Amino acid sequence: MMKRRDFLGLFGAAVAATGLPHPLFAKEKTDFDENLLVFLSDVHAGVAAKCKCAREKFAESVKEILSMNPLPRNVLVFGDIAYLYGLGEDYDHSRPGFKLLEDAGIRVTIGMGNHDRRSEFAARWPEAATQSLVPGRFVHLVETSGVGFLMLDSLQGADNRPLDDKGPVPGALPDDEQVFLRDFLEKRKKPVILCAHHTAGELKVCGRPMTAVVAKTDCVAAYIHGHNHRWISSWSRDKDCPSPQHPKWELCLPSNGLWGDIGYAICRVSPNRAVVKKVVKDFWLPRPLPKEKRPADWDDILADRRASGPYTIHL
Ligand SMILES: [Fe+2]
Repeated sequence: MMKRRDFLGLFGAAVAATGLPHPLFAKEKTDFDENLLVFLSDVHAGVAAKCKCAREKFAESVKEILSMNPLPRNVLVFGDIAYLYGLGEDYDHSRPGFKLLEDAGIRVTIGMGNHDRRSEFAARWPEAATQSLVPGRFVHLVETSGVGFLMLDSLQGADNRPLDDKGPVPGALPDDEQVFLRDFLEKRKKPVILCAHHTAGELKVCGRPMTAVVAKTDCVAAYIHGHNHRWISSWSRDKDCPSPQHPKWELCLPSNGLWGDIGYAICRVSPNRAVVKKVVKDFWLPRPLPKEKRPADWDDILADRRASGPYTIHL
């Protein structure tokens, strides 16, 4: 089990490598922006040798979030905290990093990805289990002044699988979570952005495709997910939706540090919009290579990612 002081050592090393002052020893940050959020996804900061880069990038992201001024009130994590199998030691590793954020006064809300395992996660995050809006799942609502973010739990099935079983890759919502979501959206007046690990195209809500629910439900402003490790944006519309001239964004977040597009996102909410800005760090597949061996197309992808966005979600 990774101790907090071990993570701090890794964290300190990552900070030292940048030459920046250690934010924990910088002037105390008490200034929060309630309408500023950071989105992390596919963190995969496990203990296996193959996720060394993911561990380093996670430490780097924690450092950068703590360096923000004002601090974001919320960090949302779109699943796949664990490396592959949802092992307890993976959650032991990442817990101290998230604890640093919480100790600074930042609320951390974590969704489940296909590489996660609810029982191991719940053992280390019992408050997330007890506060879930759907018993036995991890479903949480994060409110800001202009919009709420509903983090759904799209990890398919129970997690009584063997420890070396990655579990099913596609996502699904169980019946009780689908009923919860249907009822929630029927009552909801304030805008909401639906969040999950998996794409909208994989999910159903009481017999309807999630894509149709997003397009046709007035209060749903957008859908944000992880899983694909790519900065992808698309928009949806439906000819039968209430406002067909207003397409809705479906945004896919990068991996924080395992493979593919590497980075995270910062979201700023104002009265009529939520602007999602990319923090593009790198691209590698399947792992970083020294400069002389780095394929040129990695740089092309990186340049493309840097050129697009930010994305404005109208509320
Ligand atoms: Fe992932």
